[in-house]
Amino acid sequence: MSKKSKIQQLTDLKAQSRLGGGQARIDAQHKKGRLTARERLDLLLDKGSFREVDAFIVHRTHDFGLDEQKFIGDSVVTGWGTIEGRLVYVYSQDFTVFGGSLGEVHAAKICKIMDMAMKNGAPMIGLNDSGGARIQEGVVALAGYSDIFLRNTMASGVIPQISAIMGPCAGGAVYSPALTDFIFMARDTSYMFVTGPDVVKAVTHEEVTQEELGGASVHSEKSGVCHVAADSEADTLYLIRKLLGFLPQNNMEDAPFVLGDDPLRMEEALNTIVPDDANKPYDIKEVINMIMDNGQFYEIHENYAQNVVVGFARLGGHSIGIIANQPAVLAGVLDIDASEKAARFVRFCDAFNIPIITFEDVPGFLPGTFQEHHGIIRSGAKLLYAYCEATVPKLTVITRKAYGGAYCVMSSKHIRSDANFAWPTAEIAVMGPDGAVNIIFRKELDAAEDPIQRKAELVAEYKEKFANPYVAAQRGYIDDVIEPKETRPRLINALEMLSNKRDGNPAKKHGNIPL
Ligand code: HXC
Repeated sequence: MSKKSKIQQLTDLKAQSRLGGGQARIDAQHKKGRLTARERLDLLLDKGSFREVDAFIVHRTHDFGLDEQKFIGDSVVTGWGTIEGRLVYVYSQDFTVFGGSLGEVHAAKICKIMDMAMKNGAPMIGLNDSGGARIQEGVVALAGYSDIFLRNTMASGVIPQISAIMGPCAGGAVYSPALTDFIFMARDTSYMFVTGPDVVKAVTHEEVTQEELGGASVHSEKSGVCHVAADSEADTLYLIRKLLGFLPQNNMEDAPFVLGDDPLRMEEALNTIVPDDANKPYDIKEVINMIMDNGQFYEIHENYAQNVVVGFARLGGHSIGIIANQPAVLAGVLDIDASEKAARFVRFCDAFNIPIITFEDVPGFLPGTFQEHHGIIRSGAKLLYAYCEATVPKLTVITRKAYGGAYCVMSSKHIRSDANFAWPTAEIAVMGPDGAVNIIFRKELDAAEDPIQRKAELVAEYKEKFANPYVAAQRGYIDDVIEPKETRPRLINALEMLSNKRDGNPAKKHGNIPL
């Protein structure tokens, strides 16, 4: 073969590989409102930065007539590229080839790229669109999944791992995304479930659609499996790019520093944002927006367990993680879902050197048989454990209520928070005035001539004594009581004061977080 025809052969093979399962299947993919594996990579990565590996791989299966059907590159596209100039490793499952199903070589391609991501310390992003284990390959496909699961677990806490669900993701295939740090889903065109509607019907007699069982809405609102639900595939990929801006490349690095607006900016509106009536709600997201650089906040789990708000922002240019009770939803109470949501976020930030800022306005843990019977004790302990264990800089601002066990849990001084501030509106106490008076003055109230009048007096007395930040400040449990308007400069100053913080945990194989 001449040199020219050898080059032609290469060009032809690459073109064939790029065509995946062929034009008809690409058209079918578009008809379903979905992009192809390569179109997705084009949107995700910086223009022209993608470098593919293993474009020539073909499967080695002979059973069920598979030896007659070979597609160069098989059913996944893998390689590396950049996002905002920073290296990332990627795989993108190609539904046009055997429904994106995962067999031996598909898994090997993903494992190779994951190993490179680990060795070179860069994030791993997986775009999932697959019919699951390649049925014709049997246990070899299951072995391939297991190889990936092991790598997901080993990479956890070392490099950020991000999954996007762009089409089907069913059966055991869900467990690779589930092991990663963040799951994104494209609304209306993606779904995730362990067993599909047919199996559900056969086993439980429930009739349910794919969307109702495992669509983006269900997983971003009810199950919490999905961290970010986006309106379209393009939006999903854009939001992944944006998230990466807040993250370091690996656990040995810091997140990018990006200068924001005036670090000394005061916000007068914060002085009046907490209502006089302690039972009236306000939106903690307004507080967050006023304090953060350029008012920007990247929320995670926006529609799940909304009584706690978590997400990333920048403060004085530093990437930070925010955990905030949300008085506008269920009075900001901590329940099972909110505790687990916040705990997981704390652990992510701690693993990746991202300082944690906690805004606290919490009446306590949610009472009731449902919560107790479903393990609020265990879930609350997860959050407590996560905060106790975290060694990144931790800052806390108590805006109003800090009651009971929730006071201890929400990054109190006692569990190694570095700088704890309270607004003058803070109420730090074992419980709210009403409940406290009912318990400690029960006999006196029973005997009172006018119990309503007496209760009002006792509540006022209790408020005067305990429902303020000064009792805690007198003991040093609060480092300073600050004017709300100065919160931004004070937090930035504290972050910078902590920029060389070194802290650790006792040597051990690993702890035993109450799972
Ligand atoms: C081999 C598969 C496949 C699979 C799809 N295809 N899934 N080939 N193994 N798992 C092929 C189809 O035969 C078809 O080939 C092409 O991909 C497109 O699939 P369609 O069914 O035409 O597409 P669509 O109508 O969009 O339906 C998509 C689907 C459906 C819902 C994903 O294909 C499906 O139900 N697939 C099987 C899902 C499944 O049960 N997987 C195993 C799960 S168990 P042709 O040549 O006709 O175009 C599992 C265990 C993992 O994954 C364990 C890890 C621990």
